[in-house]
Amino acid sequence: MQPAGGPMSDRRQSRLERMLARLATQKACLEFAQRELAGRPGVLLELGLGKGRTYDHLRKLFPAREIHVFDRAVHAPPDCIPPADCLWLGDLREQLASPRIAALQVALVHADLGSDDSAGDAHLAAALAPLIDGLLDAGALVLSDREMQVPRWRQLPLPLAARGWAYFVYRVDR
Ligand SMILES: C[S@@+](CC[C@H](N)C(=O)[O-])C[C@H]1O[C@@H](n2cnc3c(N)ncnc32)[C@H](O)[C@@H]1O
Repeated sequence: MQPAGGPMSDRRQSRLERMLARLATQKACLEFAQRELAGRPGVLLELGLGKGRTYDHLRKLFPAREIHVFDRAVHAPPDCIPPADCLWLGDLREQLASPRIAALQVALVHADLGSDDSAGDAHLAAALAPLIDGLLDAGALVLSDREMQVPRWRQLPLPLAARGWAYFVYRVDR
């Protein structure tokens, strides 16, 4: 009997392999940002708390930085829930417009918002890109699991360890 999902040979990558590639890519991109931002001040914005995996890695990489974290609701384990004054619940399009966020100097935005709805994701990414851009000065970095197009953002090559999964690294140019 065939396993559910059909013969393995029909599939280029199993779900396990895709998950491994995604996590390795995210880890490599976050670590690239750590190196790039050394000496540059600013807080971090984590868009998409989810299970808290990338938030937990960011706080390990950037122990001295404030990290503001956004999601519709909390589904992370208790040890990955940000402090209340850095946790923003609700739709991102509204939360990012908060005057308290606008007053921050932001060094890095990590947007990890992807779902199985690629059209919905593209629509959200297009709506968020100008909102994110309005928070950034030249030299800030944006990492995203969905493409975003902003004229003054320059796409950087992915770090070598991040080549197995689509991810987007941008630096604000001017
Ligand atoms: C892929 S998960 C994040 C995974 C997380 N970074 C991790 O490492 O565990 C995407 C998250 O984005 C959140 N999200 C998607 N669209 C959103 C929106 N418009 N406003 C707020 N949160 C949103 C979802 O609720 C979901 O928890």
